Amino acid sequence: MGELSRREALTVARIVRVNHAGEFGAIRIYSAQILVARHVWPDCVPSLSEMLGHERQHCDAFRAAMPARNSRPCRVMQFWSWGGWLLGFFTALLGPQGIWACTAAVEATVHRHLDDQLNYLAERDRGLHATILSIREEELAHLHHAEEQLPAQGPLLRLLRATIAVATGCLIWLSTWGDSVRMARALRAARLS
Ligand SMILES: [Fe+2]
Ligand SMILES: [Fe+2]
Repeated sequence: MGELSRREALTVARIVRVNHAGEFGAIRIYSAQILVARHVWPDCVPSLSEMLGHERQHCDAFRAAMPARNSRPCRVMQFWSWGGWLLGFFTALLGPQGIWACTAAVEATVHRHLDDQLNYLAERDRGLHATILSIREEELAHLHHAEEQLPAQGPLLRLLRATIAVATGCLIWLSTWGDSVRMARALRAARLS
């Protein structure tokens, strides 16, 4: 593992920033869902609280990875903050199905991002690679738990998941001012080269 080029170092810094923003958004989604679920869907609260605990640890891990990689939290965390919160709040109002459809859609998006990152980091940043690998285990558990709670997929549920996936994509883009797109492009270029 040699020295990183400037471009590679920038991509690594972007990975950390985008992930940190995403974890922060996940914290906000689960917080809002717990707020609603506590009143109307108490059965969902224990699992949601456990996931919230994981997201807090993930967020802290990426925050801790920042200084050594010349990365800072993105300037518009407010987008993620309120976007995530509203997404969590409204999906929770739809009931447990809304909650788990949201979790499944968000975690599936996250999982796809992490897979690409792992591929890029394997030869470039072992420390970050190890961090993301252990986080991915938990995100995968979240995804599986959500999918177990969802019945066979009807068209309405599919539409909901697709809508949330699009909303998540927009949030990621807005909150990182296109950093996520530049990151994805760099990862794709590395994969092809
Ligand atoms: Fe997470
Ligand atoms: Fe998660």
